[in-house]
Amino acid sequence: MNILLIGGGGREHALAWKILQNKTVRQLYIAPGNAGTAQAGVNVDIGIGDFEALGKFAVENAVDMMVVGPEEPLVKGIVDYFNEHPALRHISVIGPSKAGAQLEGSKDFAKKFMERHRIPTAAYRTFRAEEETDAQNFIRSLPSPYVLKADGLAAGKGVAIVSSLEDAFRELHEMFSGKFGAASSRVVIEEFLSGVELSVFALTDGKDYLMLPEAKDYKRIGEGDTGLNTGGMGAVSPVPFADKTFMEKVESRIVRPTVEGLRKDGIPYRGFIFFGLINVGGEPMVIEYNVRLGDPETEAVLPRIRTDIVELFQAVATGKIGDKSIRIRPQTATTVMLVSGGYPGAYEKEKVITGLDKVDGDCMIFHAGTALKDNRTVTAGGRVIAVNALAESMEAALTVSKRNADIICFEGKYYRRDIGFDLKTEI
Ligand code: AMP
Ligand code: GLY
Repeated sequence: MNILLIGGGGREHALAWKILQNKTVRQLYIAPGNAGTAQAGVNVDIGIGDFEALGKFAVENAVDMMVVGPEEPLVKGIVDYFNEHPALRHISVIGPSKAGAQLEGSKDFAKKFMERHRIPTAAYRTFRAEEETDAQNFIRSLPSPYVLKADGLAAGKGVAIVSSLEDAFRELHEMFSGKFGAASSRVVIEEFLSGVELSVFALTDGKDYLMLPEAKDYKRIGEGDTGLNTGGMGAVSPVPFADKTFMEKVESRIVRPTVEGLRKDGIPYRGFIFFGLINVGGEPMVIEYNVRLGDPETEAVLPRIRTDIVELFQAVATGKIGDKSIRIRPQTATTVMLVSGGYPGAYEKEKVITGLDKVDGDCMIFHAGTALKDNRTVTAGGRVIAVNALAESMEAALTVSKRNADIICFEGKYYRRDIGFDLKTEI
């Protein structure tokens, strides 16, 4: 079988690694990939938004299955494009339809969906630009801090949490004035929830689903969860507070109603659902949906899955995920992300990366923002390399991740040494 994987980050390198454990995979193509995926399969120089070129490539290279990593092509309808095109229809696609991808593509859609299917989430209202005064009045009626969200995709930057009314009104006005383009022509304002967050993943064929291991990611740039938000500085799986009781609540109140809700609403969905949850005094609530795997959560989640992922994908494509089960390793996986100096602000690229051949055997390296230049691996993004380990305890895994994080070098390298800091006391 030939597989085309869409994307080029750490999530996709981890997916490539997991996919290649299946012996029936003949060729794995990654578009556009990075220096890490180039060692695993064959990189294809096509952008993730160029559906026509991806379709043409898929036909010419006898692709049987396409796995979509990032949200952008899903929200733009790559799955519908493949399913509707006569020459592409036979290809199994892992990823939701454009309608399903609205769960991530529109915060207002997601909130209405949760309201309709009684899925626990923060109270909210959505406003358009011409309703700015009403929106201000709604903000006034809420206690501080105020949560404002651009409705559409804003590269992870569309959420503002501010403590003063003045800042909330300014942010609201900026959003309505096009701060995030069309994505902020509507703004969701919601109740602030207080608790610890975690990421839960399900793989569904639209009828049934399998739960994947949960993970916690660390979004802030600074240790102790301080400073600016990033794409993710590290992850840990499992999450100690997500015990059996908590996860049963997650499944019965959130995961199952979501899959059933999609079915009831007539929305085709064959792919991953990422539940961004918050634990409010022992009760799980939804902060957001994503319609893909998380990054860097994937780098910690996939090494814990024993089951062949391609077999699971085939079951998703044929509507038979209900017949499958998933085997999960009990050990703890940790991911430490090496990032470029200056990230998430401006940073330099094309720094030579050394030490990749010196990492020890207990550690798995997944490339995030890397490229090949003159046969050398160089930095090509803010998040550069995910350093992963799997061990009997979080402490043991972190020791391996950090030891190897020190071995890999590039100018300006930074990483957080405190991944998992808030989970330690609970072990
Ligand atoms: P989102 O893009 O919706 O995941 O929001 C980004 C981050 O903002 C989340 O990971 C949370 O840390 C925070 N956040 C979003 N919504 C809320 C809320 N209602 N209450 C508290 N924090 C929130
Ligand atoms: N780690 C969060 C995300 O992938 O959106």
